[in-house]
Amino acid sequence: SIPDFVKIVEVGPRDGLQNEKSIIPTDVKVELIKLLVSAGLSVVEATSFVSPKWVPQLADAKDVLAAIQNVEGASFPVLTPNLKGFEAAIAAGAKEVAVFPAASESFSKANLNCGIEDNLARCRDIALASRDLSIAVRGYISCVVGCPLEGYVAPANVAYVAKSLYEMGCSEISLGDTIGVGTPGSVIPMLEAVLDVVPVDKLAVHFHDTYGQALSNILISLQMGISTVDSSVSGLGGCPYAKGATGNVATEDVVYMLNGIGVKTHVDLRKLMLAGDFICKHLGRSSGSKAATALSKV
Ligand code: HMG
Ligand code: MG
Repeated sequence: SIPDFVKIVEVGPRDGLQNEKSIIPTDVKVELIKLLVSAGLSVVEATSFVSPKWVPQLADAKDVLAAIQNVEGASFPVLTPNLKGFEAAIAAGAKEVAVFPAASESFSKANLNCGIEDNLARCRDIALASRDLSIAVRGYISCVVGCPLEGYVAPANVAYVAKSLYEMGCSEISLGDTIGVGTPGSVIPMLEAVLDVVPVDKLAVHFHDTYGQALSNILISLQMGISTVDSSVSGLGGCPYAKGATGNVATEDVVYMLNGIGVKTHVDLRKLMLAGDFICKHLGRSSGSKAATALSKV
């Protein structure tokens, strides 16, 4: 059976914008975050404390976080790949962080310049430092059903990384189909392997919609008991180290589906569309959300 309530983790300001070529002004990012919170989203991933050489778009992480310190009603997790990023995030006022190991060795090296095991050691350092400060750590796993460099990724490899994150104390583990290749055919066996080692209430799913499979994969995940779903307003996004990967599933499409099946989210779809319009106008682009596009005409 499907959960009554789904927590949506909005990743637009981070995953959605990290791959944009032209630098978006900090105040536009801040306004986007405020509009997303106004729409009822309770978790808005705000930015990343990563190397500005690797992800130039998010070089203003500190300023973004400073500008939203007084925004109430939501938490604002940020990505931190190492202790350097973690320390900068905490100094800038972060109350929640996320680490992001991969289930594929080649992707780990491409995205983090570091293999899976070495990266897990960095994640462990962050988890330990967080415990002392009562900071929640989310753990992402990328490439859970496919890698842009290695292709097939075995469910056992994903379960191994998930178990490591769980044992180091991550409050939530988000399973990422970074390149959007999964279908229920590959997602179900992956989830079964992870559910053997991590309690279902600790899991989230993170689907990119490159192949148009995200909503099917989300529905199947809900049927398996998962009740936290990552998405990006207007379907913005893509990973800079996964060539051809398009945006996350659009938050508007997720909310539309969940409304349709009677699952509560506390998100106001019309207000969410205002956030989508705002950022799409700024980027000079039409929305990647089919629901928002259709609803804007009725
Ligand atoms: P590196 O080059 O190996 O780092 O990068 P290093 O330790 O050798 O240091 C090199 C320089 O970077 C030094 O500066 C460091 O101070 C600096 P220099 O002395 O040359 O001036 N540095 C930093 N600066 C700012 N913040 C930091 C930091 N760390 C070192 N935290 C590193 C290693 C991990 C930093 C790099 O590879 C990196 O930043 N990677 C992040 C890549 C990224 O953000 N990818 C996208 C997010 S993941 C994703 O999108 C997938 C997800 O959505 C899930 C899914 O879809 O599946 C989460
Ligand atoms: Mg992603």
